[in-house]
Amino acid sequence: MCGIVGAVAERPITEILIEGLKRLEYRGYDSAGLAVLNREGKTTCIKRQGKVDLLAQAVDKHAPNGTTGIAHTRWATHGAPSERNAHPHQSGSRFSVVHNGIIENHQGLRESLIAEGYTFNSDTDTEVIVHLIHKLSTDYKDLRSTVFAATKQLVGAYGMVVSDSQSPNELVVARSGSPLVIGYGLGEHFVASDQLALLPVTRRFAVLEEGDVAQITRDAVSIIDALGEPVRRAIEESDITAEASGKAGYKHYMLKEIFEQPEAIRRTLQDRIIDGNVADDAFGNGSLELFKDIKHVQIVACGTSYNAGMVARYWIEQTVGISCSVEIASEFRYRESFVHKDSLLVTLSQSGETADTLAALRLAKSLGYSTSLTICNVETSSLVRESDLVYLMKAGPEIGVASTKAFTVQLAAMLLLSKALCEAKNINQEFCEEAGQALNALPAQMERAFSLEQPIKALAEQFADKQHALFLGRGDQYPVAMEGALKLKEISYIHAEAYAAGELKHGPLALIDADMPVVVVAPDNVLLDKLKSNIEEVRARGSVMYVFADSDDHFESAPGLDVVNMAHANHLIAPILFIIPLQFLSYYVALVKGTDVDQPRNLAKSVTVE
Ligand code: M6R
Repeated sequence: MCGIVGAVAERPITEILIEGLKRLEYRGYDSAGLAVLNREGKTTCIKRQGKVDLLAQAVDKHAPNGTTGIAHTRWATHGAPSERNAHPHQSGSRFSVVHNGIIENHQGLRESLIAEGYTFNSDTDTEVIVHLIHKLSTDYKDLRSTVFAATKQLVGAYGMVVSDSQSPNELVVARSGSPLVIGYGLGEHFVASDQLALLPVTRRFAVLEEGDVAQITRDAVSIIDALGEPVRRAIEESDITAEASGKAGYKHYMLKEIFEQPEAIRRTLQDRIIDGNVADDAFGNGSLELFKDIKHVQIVACGTSYNAGMVARYWIEQTVGISCSVEIASEFRYRESFVHKDSLLVTLSQSGETADTLAALRLAKSLGYSTSLTICNVETSSLVRESDLVYLMKAGPEIGVASTKAFTVQLAAMLLLSKALCEAKNINQEFCEEAGQALNALPAQMERAFSLEQPIKALAEQFADKQHALFLGRGDQYPVAMEGALKLKEISYIHAEAYAAGELKHGPLALIDADMPVVVVAPDNVLLDKLKSNIEEVRARGSVMYVFADSDDHFESAPGLDVVNMAHANHLIAPILFIIPLQFLSYYVALVKGTDVDQPRNLAKSVTVE
């Protein structure tokens, strides 16, 4: 959450900062600001409440001209979204800071800084950082030593960039708990929360480690670690193209990302199945050997990734015959859980920076899990760097706040994990073959499911004036219903709940009336007859139903019952296919309602604070 960009160059950097913020806007979009320093150290600071475009307009008017600068797009934690609380925060018009994270001991620091005469101009936790740096600056010889000393007094999470008008050709950056990458150019250097921000200016990046503090000038980057020792961090070439992070002609990232799913799955499975078997290194070197002895799988994740984990539980228990638990990371990290012998901890995350999931992994490492595996979409992320085993999803950048392709790619990876566990244990050959064939067929079947876009667009009109909706499924389609409900509420602001259909008459049936649309995920599987009874119970109470099915034989549209049929698919991949119509449904309902599809209110893409 919150996006940071910084630059030290020979050329004017204002446009680079603004472009970087636009590319980071998925991280937060309630206010934005920048501070630009010219060679003499004159600092121009401009902030606006609202999106980066408003800042860009203000910047056009003021045209700050400088070669060093920092910028920020905010997702509010402490203090309402407002110009006053927007970053950069400044102390004595000398120091400016942008920050991503939460300073947990801000209250105590604030009181002591006020007692020493500092005046606070915002309600943020961040402002303590800049006054603290100001205060310490008299005790240290340079900006990096000052920032290093300040970090030792901060409790919490930060990725920060600091400028000093008395030293206008450098920036100092520090990381603990919130990601930062350094971008290497020719005679210029950059910093950002995510390399996507800097792709127009460089493709060479180094990821800062926890506790690192770095000085960035035009010609050099010098980094010290948490102990103050000089260190080098590997510089690597990014293979993400600047275009991959664009909209490619689509109206929204979300729609583009829905349509990218077949290709994302092809890429993710490529070279991971060889001659019908899971490649030895698909889940990391030595993984198959480790999987042999695994007797329990613990999945930890948040949001959409949690829903993917819930589907995977059905697959793992049914096909591998070992127990599997799934828990929301923010719960897992704060309770004393029982660790089964020979347990594999699996974290699922698109971003690899979700604070709760990362904390859960760190906790699990001290609890005696046999090994940890992350299934993650960002190679440079903390989860990837801190897990024993990694399955890198190759979904490409996912920028729409509502997760779509990450979900289906995670599911494909988890089905492959079930296969890998079976192969490692030399069991369930029949499933292994079936899963291999089903995964091969998956991208083409997803493409066929796209033909549902137009019929669903028409249905969406009927949802736009609704306040609530129920989503029903059974078995491995229950988590698909959960994901469908999450998508709808997230981008259209319609209150949506998912229930295992068999649970209806234990309470939620009381909600049913003509104003409560009910969406049912109803593939032709062993639970279909049970589900049909549940549907009848709902219909009898006058609900309007939308049934997504894959067999012409079971449902017929009738008054109060709209049936959308897709091609029948192997039961193993049905959950991956049935989410597609639900993604379209939420997208088109949001479009009819005119909400901000890619940047829904109050949310941000990468939840780096707990
Ligand atoms: O990056 P992660 O997969 O760890 O993110 C987890 C959730 O924050 C995320 O899935 C969130 O629920 C999405 N906005 C849902 O569309």
